[in-house]
Amino acid sequence: MTTAHDSPTAAGSGSSASASFRATSRRISAGAVPAERVSEVVTAVLAGVHDAIRTHEVTYPEFQAAKQWLMDVGEGGEWPLLLDVFVEHVVEEVAACSQLGTKGTILGPYYLPDQLKLPATATLPMRPDEPGIPLVFTGQVQDTAGDPVPEAELDIWHADDQGYYSGFAPGIPDGNLRGVVVADGEGRFEIGTVRPAPYQIPTDGPTGRLITAAGWHPWRPAHLHLIVRAPGKRPITTQLYFAGGDWLDSDVAEATKPELVLDPKPQQDGRLRAEYDFVLEDSVEESE
Ligand code: DHB
Ligand code: FE
Repeated sequence: MTTAHDSPTAAGSGSSASASFRATSRRISAGAVPAERVSEVVTAVLAGVHDAIRTHEVTYPEFQAAKQWLMDVGEGGEWPLLLDVFVEHVVEEVAACSQLGTKGTILGPYYLPDQLKLPATATLPMRPDEPGIPLVFTGQVQDTAGDPVPEAELDIWHADDQGYYSGFAPGIPDGNLRGVVVADGEGRFEIGTVRPAPYQIPTDGPTGRLITAAGWHPWRPAHLHLIVRAPGKRPITTQLYFAGGDWLDSDVAEATKPELVLDPKPQQDGRLRAEYDFVLEDSVEESE
């Protein structure tokens, strides 16, 4: 296979993900969380660590190796990658307890806000020679009563045919395979893109070293990322996977759900066509 660009390094993707996180995340201001809450949660986290040390009789050399590795994660800028792969799915599981409609899953580290706005029938920005099988992704945004949701926005981003994200891997134009599609008055959309490849966690950084040291694999199944939002509706952050794809049953980030699997079929013109309807619940009037 020809490579259209250099492979991303852990250092490159990690520090881009850290910079993006710093630029977009809202910090909880100091003092906003009651001391009891901090104490309760941090005590539980530490108890889990203490318990692992006792159960597995962790030695001094192992403790020092862990300290060095944690320092490397910070210096490599890999905290967003590491936490989104190994921890975010449980935060999402807790958040999802109160969510109706389409299932959510993790945001991951590669979302970039403010992408190109596109009409309901559109092709995502891509290179003239964008490698990969053309894919038409179509469907409707509905409310929980099954009625169409007008003015719904589908903020979509995904990896290319080699598993790389624009904005985080070298040699890919900004905004490639990213866009904010505005559905029509009936909530319908038809998005032209290419089928993404599975994503591999960069293997040359501390997260990759951990995965190798533990004998795990570094793969996520191929996926489309979406945030679907509409006025008066609770936004949904989700991902859609591909039936029969590699790693669907062993996602390193544990972020797959059976309800989130597309089953694309070839159209007459040779492009793959996948359909999915999103269901948004009314928003609750409180800050999230
Ligand atoms: C990571 C990458 C992804 O593309 C994703 O969807 C989730 C996590 C990561 O490298 O942490
Ligand atoms: Fe992803």
